[in-house]
Amino acid sequence: MSFHAVPEHRRISILDLQQATLRGEKWPMITAYDALSARIFDEAGIPAILVGDSAGMVVHGHDSTLPVTVDELLPLVRAVVRGAPRAFIVADLPFGSYQASAAQALDTAARFIKEGGAHAVKLEGGRAIVPQVELLSSSGVPVIGHLGLTPQSVNMLGGYRVQGRGESGDMLLRDAKELQAAGACALVLEAVPAELAARVTDMLAIPTIGIGAGNATDAQVIVWQDLVGMTTGPAPRFVKRYADVHGVMLDAVSRWAEDVTSGAFPAPEQSYT
Ligand code: KIV
Repeated sequence: MSFHAVPEHRRISILDLQQATLRGEKWPMITAYDALSARIFDEAGIPAILVGDSAGMVVHGHDSTLPVTVDELLPLVRAVVRGAPRAFIVADLPFGSYQASAAQALDTAARFIKEGGAHAVKLEGGRAIVPQVELLSSSGVPVIGHLGLTPQSVNMLGGYRVQGRGESGDMLLRDAKELQAAGACALVLEAVPAELAARVTDMLAIPTIGIGAGNATDAQVIVWQDLVGMTTGPAPRFVKRYADVHGVMLDAVSRWAEDVTSGAFPAPEQSYT
């Protein structure tokens, strides 16, 4: 990966990510919510990590991202920053922490930057949040936009479904242009037709980061538990499971539990003399 050119002693910055895109190099972004997994992703050379509000689901066990709060996300951001010394760390602004006004967005972003150590924030929405993006970027906070399927609007969207088909695609193109003009440094496109994501990517100078948006985007993002098969059951079409971590953990924990029950664990090797 070209980020090897970035000196070992410093973190990857938004400029490194944007320059990679200008050179035509695709790059990966992955979610993380704790220090140990963040360290693995850093070791793998992943240049950008998102502490997503998906934590509401995969960490806190809610059935949507809506309930998760700033106070619940902040410790996760701190842990990820400590665990990953090299990656660019993005904090998701949770539902209700930025929509009311640009001032509210700046207050929340400042907490993630000052208390969490994040390097950028991500927020969902189009034209309605342009004032927020303008104030954040003019205040020196890199802002990543998020269009298409925006999970914080699940109640308005009527479920987790593909967005941007037909005429709503034109609105998405307009929103993307406005977010870039407002100062967004990159844009997540979630669950939109590949052809629409390709048009947005062609149109914008900033990197597009796809999740269920085909392979023309400049980067890809994924929830790590989906990627390694820790989540089970039916997954969205865009999820490719690269491992069966659920199976590996289930097997290990079950064998350990059997050994405890039978008295086989701990053996002398795991005991102190
Ligand atoms: O919260 C999250 O993990 C996200 C990604 C899926 C883009 O927003």
